[in-house]
Amino acid sequence: MLDRFLARVKKIISPQASDVAIDPVIPILKRYFGNRRIRVIEIGARYGDSTERILAELNVEKYIIVDPYETYEGYVSDGFNQVLSSSSDAGNLIYERTVDRFSARPVEFIRMYSSEAASMIKNESFDLVFIDGNHTYDYVREDVISYVPKLVSGGIACGDDYFMRHHDVDFLGTLDGDYREKMVWEAVNECCSEMKLDVYGYGMHCGYPRAWLAVKH
Ligand SMILES: C[S@@+](CC[C@H](N)C(=O)[O-])C[C@H]1O[C@@H](n2cnc3c(N)ncnc32)[C@H](O)[C@@H]1O
Repeated sequence: MLDRFLARVKKIISPQASDVAIDPVIPILKRYFGNRRIRVIEIGARYGDSTERILAELNVEKYIIVDPYETYEGYVSDGFNQVLSSSSDAGNLIYERTVDRFSARPVEFIRMYSSEAASMIKNESFDLVFIDGNHTYDYVREDVISYVPKLVSGGIACGDDYFMRHHDVDFLGTLDGDYREKMVWEAVNECCSEMKLDVYGYGMHCGYPRAWLAVKH
């Protein structure tokens, strides 16, 4: 009886999470953009699973992926860095495979760090920015500050792993990582507050919203 109750509570707190990062916000994006042709930037695409979903669900005119596909010292926020450092050509192979995956689609790759690529992209020329690169505080802050200006007024910024936060503010005590520094949650909240943007959370991971979303004025 107690087991059944606990299993139910667990299901409510942590429903079967989708593996595709963009999924929690897809219903909102579909309602918001409808069938309008939109231009999208994704920061950090890995194998392109969210790219695939966005291309399938929205009417995309142009899609830019910004991703260096290489290992570097400050990239500690997810396991992909280990994949990239597993062999000297891992980054090249994954990059080439991902380019192939979207060869017939309106997808353009900028194989650079998001901080370097920002100046190559015109301000106020995109409708959607999906921020899913390095999830540590300074990187997320820089991505939000540099890429929200790429949006037209009424454009949407969103990102994954909004549950990631300092251990001290894991109020539920449910986080599956022991973060001893500020992460996505703090960076997004602070930047959105500075930019006077309301930020909303969607989906769920460990009892916290998984994805964040804000509309640019
Ligand atoms: C969590 S994965 C992205 C997952 C992908 N968005 C999806 O939904 O399937 C993080 C990606 O960010 C990239 N990345 C890491 N640091 C970056 C940086 N400084 N600038 C841009 N991309 C970065 C990694 O190479 C990796 O592909």
